[in-house]
Amino acid sequence: MPIIAVIGAQWGDEGKGKVVDLLAEKANLIVRFSGGDNAGHTVVNPYGEFKLHIVPAGIFYAHTVCLIGNGVVVNPAVLIDEVNQLNERGVDTSRLFISDRAHLIMPYHTLLDGLEEEARAGKALGTTRKGIGPAFADKIARLGIRAGDLLDKEALRERLGSVLDYKNAILTKVYGADPLSLEKVYQDYCRYADYLAPLIRETTIMVAEALDRGELVMLEGAQGSLLDPDFGTYPYTTSSSPLAGGGCLGAGVGPSRIDRILGVFKAYCTRVGSGPMPTELADEVGDMIRERAHEYGATTGRPRRCGWFDAVAASFSSRINGFTEAVITRLDVLDTFSRLKICVGYKLNGETIDYFPGSIAALEKCQPIYKELPGWQATISHIRKYQQLPAEARQYVDRLEEIVSCPVSIISVGRGRGQTIFRGSNW
Ligand code: IMP
Repeated sequence: MPIIAVIGAQWGDEGKGKVVDLLAEKANLIVRFSGGDNAGHTVVNPYGEFKLHIVPAGIFYAHTVCLIGNGVVVNPAVLIDEVNQLNERGVDTSRLFISDRAHLIMPYHTLLDGLEEEARAGKALGTTRKGIGPAFADKIARLGIRAGDLLDKEALRERLGSVLDYKNAILTKVYGADPLSLEKVYQDYCRYADYLAPLIRETTIMVAEALDRGELVMLEGAQGSLLDPDFGTYPYTTSSSPLAGGGCLGAGVGPSRIDRILGVFKAYCTRVGSGPMPTELADEVGDMIRERAHEYGATTGRPRRCGWFDAVAASFSSRINGFTEAVITRLDVLDTFSRLKICVGYKLNGETIDYFPGSIAALEKCQPIYKELPGWQATISHIRKYQQLPAEARQYVDRLEEIVSCPVSIISVGRGRGQTIFRGSNW
């Protein structure tokens, strides 16, 4: 049986939560493979509305094992809180496990994320301040503490002691902040260890065994491809790879095992946080999209920047991920517009370009070149068959399909599981 990867194709918030919740019915195992609780996966299902930050969106099905992969950074307090909240609302989380290799977000990571942002002043990255960047920096600097370290409390104290000396020096000497108490942090993490120890596993074996049994495995992406530290709008990016390739690393599977890569695109663009976004609409059209779609961050509540669909960015995203299929979400948000625009190229220094520049200095100068299409001006959220969509809506989707160079196999026309149009025989 295949692995299906569900990947954010723009700047995050494309609706991956809904897609995973929907497809998880058929999956036996789901792995979150990147990011941390900076993610906010909104899911609306018979249990109610949820904003999941760290628990995989497959948790709502009794038969689905959910893994937090080695590529995720885990804030144990946030995870425990989320699990408790799910349990209180009747959701069984007994099939949730964490990779022993997943790095932990420590209190100094969240503190430093805030202090670093404040020090950047006008050049702040607009991070979620959840400690994500500092935790991934420590992973690469070999200063990280991993979930598996919670299983040996003596070793944990020793490791924490040496790392905390260094972190306290930075907190006090660089930022003039108060130092953290080793005893307090250690005791807090021992309590988390007592709660989480039964969940901590060698998860790559679980994935391999599921595949050997012929089960369907799903890789659940977080954030979006244009926030990738290599290919996104660096330095206005996140700190782990949201790409399909990141799925291999963050779940512990080889590229040859992934059969289907679903790129999730919103029918328009949004971005939260700083950094270039060529099609951003700082006008009443952008406001209309934001209010109609309630485009406010699921994690931070910040208003999202809204704009037209960017075909240049979309085809770049499709290329670097190797999407085999695309999912278009929130098509219904465009119901009221008489004309729709798609950005088909950029004007840069008087030249027309059709590629996504690697330099943000260049990207910041790019002016969108639009192609207009007619709107459908009709309600589509009740439609379940592609052929029943208004001709203009089909024309819009067909245009997106050409841009991303792969079939659009799912179209979402509302928040609920049922408000979905499946295309093709692959479902
Ligand atoms: P960080 O991941 O918290 O370090 O934030 C870095 C950038 O990624 C900021 O612009 C955030 O707004 C953005 N970001 C992080 N997570 C998400 C997400 O789940 N959706 C959308 N943007 C995100």
